[in-house]
Amino acid sequence: MPTVTFLPGYQKAVVPEGTTILEAALAAGLPMNVVCGGQGKCGKCIVFVKDGTASFDLERYRRFLSDDEIARGACLACRTTVGGDLRVEVPAGSLIQKQKILVEIPGTEEVPFDPSVWKYETYLAPPSLDDTTPDLARLLEGIENCGGPPPNRVYAPLEVLRYLPQVLRRSGWHVTGTVALVPGGYRLLNVDEGDTTGRLYGAAVDLGTTTVVAYIRSLTDGRVLATASNYNRQISCGEDILSRVNFARKSGLSRLQQLAAESINESLKSASDAGGIDLEEIFEVVIAGNTVMTHLLLGIDPSYMIAEPYIPVVRRMLSTAAGRIGIAAHRNAGVYTFPAVSNFIGGDIIADILASGMADRDEVSLMVDIGTNFEAVLGNRDWMLSCAGAAGPALEGGEVLFGMRANPGAIERVEIDADTLTPSYTTIGGVRPRGICGSGLIDLVAELIRACVIDRTGQINLQLDHPRIRRGRYYPEFVVAWKEETAIGKDIVITENDIRNLIMSKAAIHAACMTLLDAAGLTPRDIERVYFSGAFGNYLNKKNATIIGLIPEVPQDRIVNIGNGAIAGANIALLNRRQRKALDGIARRITYIELNAEPSFMDRYTSSCFLPHTDLMLFPRVQQMLEACRARRGGGEAWQA
Ligand code: FES
Repeated sequence: MPTVTFLPGYQKAVVPEGTTILEAALAAGLPMNVVCGGQGKCGKCIVFVKDGTASFDLERYRRFLSDDEIARGACLACRTTVGGDLRVEVPAGSLIQKQKILVEIPGTEEVPFDPSVWKYETYLAPPSLDDTTPDLARLLEGIENCGGPPPNRVYAPLEVLRYLPQVLRRSGWHVTGTVALVPGGYRLLNVDEGDTTGRLYGAAVDLGTTTVVAYIRSLTDGRVLATASNYNRQISCGEDILSRVNFARKSGLSRLQQLAAESINESLKSASDAGGIDLEEIFEVVIAGNTVMTHLLLGIDPSYMIAEPYIPVVRRMLSTAAGRIGIAAHRNAGVYTFPAVSNFIGGDIIADILASGMADRDEVSLMVDIGTNFEAVLGNRDWMLSCAGAAGPALEGGEVLFGMRANPGAIERVEIDADTLTPSYTTIGGVRPRGICGSGLIDLVAELIRACVIDRTGQINLQLDHPRIRRGRYYPEFVVAWKEETAIGKDIVITENDIRNLIMSKAAIHAACMTLLDAAGLTPRDIERVYFSGAFGNYLNKKNATIIGLIPEVPQDRIVNIGNGAIAGANIALLNRRQRKALDGIARRITYIELNAEPSFMDRYTSSCFLPHTDLMLFPRVQQMLEACRARRGGGEAWQA
């Protein structure tokens, strides 16, 4: 079988002929950037074949490659098959880089601290011929005397009983018992020698499809002791949810379960190292993840979620012991996973709702979480409607010529001088630009319409005589950064096609929000609060999001970014047992609306495929702004109509 050697690191993979270079790279352990899941649609997996036999349909994928790259042997790893021994160079831009993972959360300081795990230090009287109380009863009485639960309500697992006699005697009958409140009573999690009451920790985890974030908190006072984040290692088995479910179906479930646990453990380990915490002292772990991630973490087969009639195995909150699923905490620590509403409204969205507090208020709120998919929830304490859909890859850097994820070098904010059309931008990490991420793309399109460079369909005005506006190889384009400014030696441009792809993404989200409003018999004016959750929502410019029509128009001061709602919700559920207990009730109150079954959704989508919308009456403030811009630039009526 041919050997593929990857430069510059000389990683090797021996693969059958006909394997794609992408598959070989993944087999060699290279974290390739596969935004479109290897479908040849994003152009982000460029590699250079240095020597050897490979086959690639250059003409078909030429649009992703510059002449200079073609001269150096460039091809798309996912569309190139191995025909013999190969040497392939993988540029840094084709590998997943350290992403800007949203770790900070606002507001959990306000959550009343009311945990469900406690430690009790107790001095026990040694047994004697006059006092033959068994060890366990003796311990539980001691715990009760220190304020713990009544012994008859405490369950002691066999493994604790197995080491209990030695611990009691070695310690001279001075021990600390760890007890957790569990459904139906209490559970004795551990017994330590001496006083360990100062070392009681819990972890809150956001298990995302792409990233994992962990918080370690003291469960004696609720303080945050350390945080950490990393990639979800399951990416090596497929970038999106669907490919992971398919991987699970092909006997890969146990591998995905192991990778989910390893990903969480990587974060827990980094956080515990930073905080000087022994992982064995973590006695509770609360995990928020989408429905598929939760199934995979627990080793539950998610296959039936992608086949008719599309049902998950379980939707309610589950708990298990850390040792049973390989989580790096005390083996008896309780691991709690958030409940779900449907396949598409999972525990991460319930965590968003918890973090926003919308389920406790009378006011009508709209919560939107945007990634490759989007989820939207509308409602208040009495009712909630939800829906979900594909946002398309544009907001995550896919199907945009210079699109990229929120990695270092991504243009994340842009302003354009309306008179000179000179852009000023900032990049993630403050380095030279390599591409444009979702928030930068929204800024660009909003600024271009404000500067009258594009019209409401996203068409670039080639009549404007300006060096930044030109006919590109395939589409009209606007130069955001000249090649001398960039880190990639190419002009970074936004093309008319990129703008069209963004419009399609934002139209799906806007149409979904309008569908929820309609189902509730409400209009955008009835929305008293909009919550953006997730990394994308956190970094986007609220005003520009409204200008392009991503969400219904509401006054800017009603829009709130809640940051990473999933980790915020997981923290709340860790700190407050009543809030955790309420989660199943929140999930049950939410009605899921299947957009594909809503006949009006497609009409709304079509109407939303404009900037901001065909009906400007829905965007009165944006309409005013566009008229002011037009008046200032003296733009033609036909162009702006
Ligand atoms: Fe190869 Fe998208 S992963 S083109």
